[in-house]
Amino acid sequence: MGKIADPKLAGEGEKNFLWAKNHMVALNALSAKYGKGKPFSGVTVGVCLHVTKETSVLVDALVKAGADVKLAAANPLSTQDDIAAFLAREAEVWAWKGQTAKEYEWCIRQVVAQKPAILIDDGADLHVAAMTARLESVLGGCEETTTGVVRITALEREGKLGYPIIAINNAKTKHLFDNRYGTGQSTFDGILRATALLIAGKMVVVVGYGWVGKGVARRAAGLGARVTVVEIDPIKALEAHLDGFEVSSISEAARRGEIFITCTGMKGVIPYSSIELMREGAILSNAGHFDVEIDVKTLLARAKSVRGVRPNVDEVVLPDGKKVYLLAKGRIVNLVAAEGHPPEVMQMSFANQFMSALYLLKNHSNLVTRVLDVPPEIESQVALATLESLGISIDRATKAQLKYAESWKI
Ligand code: ADE
Repeated sequence: MGKIADPKLAGEGEKNFLWAKNHMVALNALSAKYGKGKPFSGVTVGVCLHVTKETSVLVDALVKAGADVKLAAANPLSTQDDIAAFLAREAEVWAWKGQTAKEYEWCIRQVVAQKPAILIDDGADLHVAAMTARLESVLGGCEETTTGVVRITALEREGKLGYPIIAINNAKTKHLFDNRYGTGQSTFDGILRATALLIAGKMVVVVGYGWVGKGVARRAAGLGARVTVVEIDPIKALEAHLDGFEVSSISEAARRGEIFITCTGMKGVIPYSSIELMREGAILSNAGHFDVEIDVKTLLARAKSVRGVRPNVDEVVLPDGKKVYLLAKGRIVNLVAAEGHPPEVMQMSFANQFMSALYLLKNHSNLVTRVLDVPPEIESQVALATLESLGISIDRATKAQLKYAESWKI
């Protein structure tokens, strides 16, 4: 019996689903309100997300709102098998932990073969597969992550976008919280589960100072690390400096760092030439979507030996005999070695996904084939529902204040 049909595993998955659902009150409130009349009835929704307990809450909300969900994983190593087994009760699922590259692509092609009308993606592999297949069933799509938005924006520039796509990542209620606080916490969750080492006092090198890098650097400092930021954008580098971090080049940081975390979405930001400069025992990890940020290929090709010393920790002996440790094979460490972002953060990202998918369904005939922003009214609903879920109430502008603000108009 395959893992996906294992009832015991599905039972474990159900417990994790309920744990996440209890902490995703804003998503529950919005999906209950807008999903009540089953607006997705008869609609096939193709989903390519990391198969986590938080994703199960979104998939369940879509199913409860009438959708026929077809699900593949957004990474070969990030699937939580108990969640895949649980979701297989209510959706068609092609996902398991430890896929080969070929299996991973095959699973995505199975979703495309179901002729979905709406696509929800993380990283744009599903969008690219749908566009390559010239899938005509698609009315519109959503894209979760920075890397995916970069890819679909490139397709738009080349005139190759096949349907309108809402860039969920560009919503403030996504990147300000998910990228910064979600990745900030879950990256250390992954590093700590993998290594069980002390962070305090260590030299942590954060490569990239976008929203993810900002979150990771701040958490590293909070855990007592000495933090160096490596950044090629001069404005972001200055920002890191004034935020109180040491800023340096990768070759300088390579000599001093003890734990390295890549957060750029860019290829080769830790080149092999920098790995050669590192001290004995340096730990290498990646928080970006693809496994291209550390030059893992050259590292493994040149290695004297490679052996797993703990789950998600490979000891790599360099030609000169020095050992470095590669976490999660250089793949996204927070999802491979831990469970991804916490539910309280994912409720915002996934409320944006749910509401935007519904928006596409209702408005697709009026939308242009472009990369679109999450409509502002959805953003404010997500923010207000999240505040409410946290028991926070805020003031409104008084009439006099509104009048004062208006008074500047000419
Ligand atoms: N991306 C980062 N964290 C995640 C999570 N918990 N679930 C799905 N996608 C994620």
